[in-house]
Amino acid sequence: MRLLTASILSLTLPVIHASLNATALTNQYFGNDAPWYLSRIPLFESSSSLLTDVYYYRWSIFRSHQRDLGSRGYISTEFLNDVGWQTNPWASLNDATGFHLLEGRWCRDRRFKEDYADFIFSAESNTRQFSETMAASVWAGYEVDGSEADVVKRLDEMMGVFDAWMDSYDSNQSLYWVEPLRDATEYTISSIDASGGLDGFTGGNAFRPSINSFQYANAKAISDIAALKGNMDGTVDTYSAKASSLKETVQSSLWNTTFAHFIDRFQVNNTYVRYGTPIRGRELVGYVPWTHDLPDDSTEYAEAWTHILNASELAGPHGLRTNEPSYEYYMRQYRYEGTAPECQWNGPVWPFQTTQVLTGLANFLDHYPVGASRDLITKADYIRLLEQYAQLHYNPSRAGILDIEEDYYPDTGSPIVGLKRSPHYFHSGYIDVILSGLVGIRPSASDVLEVNPLADASMMTYFRADSILYHGHTIAVQWDATGTRYGTQGLQVEIDGVTAATSPTLTRLTVPISRVAPPALQRRLAKSIQLNATTPYPIGSVSAPNASSLDAIHAAIDGRVFFFPEPDVANGWDTPVSTTNTTTTTPDGGSEFWFAIDFGAPTLVSSAELAFFLDLNQGFDVPVKYSVQVVQGEGSEEWVDVDEAVYGEVVGNGITHVSWKASSVGKIRVVFELREGVRARLVEMKIF
Ligand SMILES: *[C@@H]1O[C@H](CO)[C@@H](O)[C@H](O)[C@H]1NC(C)=O
Ligand SMILES: *[C@@H]1O[C@H](CO)[C@@H](O)[C@H](O)[C@H]1NC(C)=O
Ligand SMILES: *[C@@H]1O[C@H](CO)[C@@H](O)[C@H](O)[C@H]1NC(C)=O
Ligand SMILES: *[C@@H]1O[C@H](CO)[C@@H](O)[C@H](O)[C@H]1NC(C)=O
Ligand SMILES: *[C@@H]1O[C@H](CO)[C@@H](O)[C@H](O)[C@H]1NC(C)=O
Ligand SMILES: *[C@@H]1O[C@H](CO)[C@@H](O)[C@H](O)[C@H]1NC(C)=O
Ligand SMILES: *[C@@H]1O[C@H](CO)[C@@H](O)[C@H](O)[C@H]1NC(C)=O
Ligand SMILES: *[C@@H]1O[C@H](CO)[C@@H](O)[C@H](O)[C@H]1NC(C)=O
Repeated sequence: MRLLTASILSLTLPVIHASLNATALTNQYFGNDAPWYLSRIPLFESSSSLLTDVYYYRWSIFRSHQRDLGSRGYISTEFLNDVGWQTNPWASLNDATGFHLLEGRWCRDRRFKEDYADFIFSAESNTRQFSETMAASVWAGYEVDGSEADVVKRLDEMMGVFDAWMDSYDSNQSLYWVEPLRDATEYTISSIDASGGLDGFTGGNAFRPSINSFQYANAKAISDIAALKGNMDGTVDTYSAKASSLKETVQSSLWNTTFAHFIDRFQVNNTYVRYGTPIRGRELVGYVPWTHDLPDDSTEYAEAWTHILNASELAGPHGLRTNEPSYEYYMRQYRYEGTAPECQWNGPVWPFQTTQVLTGLANFLDHYPVGASRDLITKADYIRLLEQYAQLHYNPSRAGILDIEEDYYPDTGSPIVGLKRSPHYFHSGYIDVILSGLVGIRPSASDVLEVNPLADASMMTYFRADSILYHGHTIAVQWDATGTRYGTQGLQVEIDGVTAATSPTLTRLTVPISRVAPPALQRRLAKSIQLNATTPYPIGSVSAPNASSLDAIHAAIDGRVFFFPEPDVANGWDTPVSTTNTTTTTPDGGSEFWFAIDFGAPTLVSSAELAFFLDLNQGFDVPVKYSVQVVQGEGSEEWVDVDEAVYGEVVGNGITHVSWKASSVGKIRVVFELREGVRARLVEMKIF
């Protein structure tokens, strides 16, 4: 790899820093919930308002999928709602964990990815539910935060998960195989063809580019972490040899010269398909080797990138197809939930794989040697594909509404599945694509900060990303084609507010960067979290229960906080409509309501975070007044106001804070009053 040397600015040049305004941007994009984001997210803006708006939406996806497990900290969820195949009682699924961690590596608050990494490598998670890149993604987090102590501590667990995949390793092929369903990609060519074209939900075990690239990346990460830890027991060499072997075999066995693409070979051997033979078409999964930077930079492999530009192959008009129209069963719908088409990977656009392709393309464009083949695909193509992906976040039939769902029709860009579980689905990445691809921060373990924007000057007149925490420093990258946006023409990299490298053009810049310990983690633990509706304590109760309250009461103490308006993802407990008619005879009448938590044992408490939903169109308003009461003594049932309470202003779609003099209590409740004719939805009541 040839690196262009940065010109280091001398002190005599003017230093102009156009820092983005965190207060203004977080208010604009997150309203009353802005305080959650204010000091946690890196800021970004660009001459593409599409890319910018989706960037902030994707931070709301990240925040909304943080599930607080109380003493176990936070995990990321994939669906906002519970689904039947999640690992209980956490609601975890590990197929998209790699994306969750790669988005989380840019969060200035490391707690989320660190808590999550602790969880996914613990005995409580289901490490083998799906094929995964957990070790590789934890390493990728270290490349951003630079915190050695955090990355080395889970090495043994990582090796344990890696080695467990030996149950899917074929020593004759020197390759791993996987059932497409376990790859989270049901109905691929291998599973459909292994069923004789009849189905394809299950079955179709194949030596796939996915699992083998994942294990390549995991092996490299384990080797690198062992090296960091100073392991002299051979772990470094053992795992780097495993990575080399996989690289070699993926290239020699899964590359198909007829298709100029990495494709599956069948592991299954039945009436329809033969062990070891290649599948009969190209799939988007063939780019996953580049997602993990596996292939050599050869002209032969580079040829694969033409297929996502060809409208007869993988380039759908509204997104990248998962396989090609020439495949016999392209877009044939096999599976339904009621009358709604279910998830399939035989053609639909999937943000999951689009993310993998964009990451792979960024790796390719970043260091593929300049030469004839380079023009096969360009930075302009990258920007166009990135914008096409961003556009998918807008459902064509809901103008202006941001909502990422499972999969999409390549011809229209409309979502396919549209079930109650579908809105705001966290099964892909975007923030990482923007920051490591477009903006071009190429995270690494070395003490050199490398920035290589994949922007094309003809398509991007300006962008700026700042407040990014990298190896303990705050860095910024800015591009201004003319100098009219930020007052300085060209590309510049800033470290801790000082210009460190510049170039008049969009090119690679490298600059030495020291390593500073990142800020210490703050871990405030909520005491109010109920993992599922049937766990004993803490338990919730309400002033106006009805037959269907149980799940709603649980939802208000389940550790999930989000405020999306779609009724399908309603989250929390709803009061009845408030009435001040004192002659009303209904039992839940009135305008005063309460939500209580019984801890089951004396519990020291001193503050609360109340999350109220606000949507007047749906009849939800916030309380006009509220107070916090507790039951103190053993055996007492008397509710008393907390002492020395400081009540924050009530906000809707954000957090209302209350604190008081710490005391040991058995029960706690919030009592609140509503104006007439509205309901309240208590999204979450967290007690600390
Ligand atoms: C940032 O935005 C806030 C809110 O819009 C404003 O009050 C403040 O003056 C701005 N700060 C700067 C430095 O422009
Ligand atoms: C709820 O949690 C309890 C305790 O962890 C567990 O035994 C039970 O299986 C869980 N139920 C569901 C539906 O997750
Ligand atoms: C490898 O090939 C040998 C000989 O054909 C066979 O006996 C063995 O079962 C194969 N192993 C696997 C894992 O398929
Ligand atoms: C696959 O099945 C065919 C037909 O049953 C059999 O002849 C062949 O040996 C099998 N191959 C392997 C590798 O099991
Ligand atoms: C590539 O795959 C196709 C479809 O399975 C197959 O016909 C062809 O022989 C393969 N090409 C090579 C060189 O193996
Ligand atoms: C586009 O794809 C079709 C179908 O595979 C192929 O015939 C055609 O040659 C491709 N066009 C280019 C420019 O590669
Ligand atoms: C029952 O209570 C839930 C909230 O707990 C509420 O959403 C629902 O509207 C109530 N049902 C009736 C019939 O009042
Ligand atoms: C008050 O409630 C009673 C009983 O439901 C009803 O008959 C009466 O019309 C209500 N009054 C008003 C002003 O809504």
